[in-house]
Amino acid sequence: MSLGSHLLQADQLDATSILELLDLAESFADVERRTMPKVPALKGKVVATLFFEDSTRTRLSFETAAKRLSADVLSLAVGSSSVKKGESLRDTVETIEAMGIDAIVIRHRSSGAAHQVARWAKRAKVINAGDGWHEHPTQALLDLLTVRQRIAEQRGLTPQELGVSCFEGLRVGIIGDIRHSRVARSSVSCYRSLGAEVTVVAPGSLLPPGIEDWGVKISHDLDAVIPSLDVIALLRLQSERGSGTYLPSLREYSRDFSLSAVRETQLGALAMITHPGPMMRGVEIASSVADLDRTLQLRQVSNGVATRMAVLFSLLGQGPLDSGMEQ
Ligand code: NCD
Repeated sequence: MSLGSHLLQADQLDATSILELLDLAESFADVERRTMPKVPALKGKVVATLFFEDSTRTRLSFETAAKRLSADVLSLAVGSSSVKKGESLRDTVETIEAMGIDAIVIRHRSSGAAHQVARWAKRAKVINAGDGWHEHPTQALLDLLTVRQRIAEQRGLTPQELGVSCFEGLRVGIIGDIRHSRVARSSVSCYRSLGAEVTVVAPGSLLPPGIEDWGVKISHDLDAVIPSLDVIALLRLQSERGSGTYLPSLREYSRDFSLSAVRETQLGALAMITHPGPMMRGVEIASSVADLDRTLQLRQVSNGVATRMAVLFSLLGQGPLDSGMEQ
């Protein structure tokens, strides 16, 4: 399978390519379980990570994924680079590309930055690791991988046996700061492509303009929707993007939209909770709920590596997967 030149936003992926990526990620998850979790698939390739925004898990996850595929990794520490001296994004990209980079993984506070970099890149493949409010496609993919694994376990099947069927009619609630969330935009696109029924739950002020065109149900009442959800996808308030100015009070927000211990008891027996992290315990999720078995946050983090291996391999790998899987 080929992803084309870049992975910039989730709607590039139709149901078939999402499924292929998930199956590929499952194969890489098997690699990760080996005692030597490394394959030579991208030997000789160079992956650069350019993070212009703070990140723990996404950056480490991409770098681990690239290393497990035997690629070389260049990590630009923006805080101590020429960006600090005022170098433009274009000059930074052209400079690192001149070093013979094969892929650029970029995170940036500006929506559209990854598209811009893709226009400038002459040969490197570009992967969007989160651009402003816009998109974060690999996060959506790793969420799907995690949800499918959980459903497979519940049904005593392998994820590959389930295929796409487990998403058809799956009732997914995305709760919280939809307005500022790139995770919400990518997730809605992927879940809908696979046939899930998505409800966004948020105060009116935290819904973006044009939400009516997203093809989702809209609710302002978490208590009313919670018993009917199969997946509760929680989001962090994006305070760095000004979410606070859209809320009269944090306490009121938490009272109405947090997954409290009491609300958790209203969930169906098989329902699961996802969170992209970082989690704000006591704001969007009660600390006791964050530590429950059905809260899949850490599993999402683990699956992030396999998912990013799948994306990197699809963009940069040559030949059949089998040739890249030998130890
Ligand atoms: C998300 C992000 O950066 O968009 N986190 C992540 O990638 N793990 C969500 C968030 O920061 O709230």
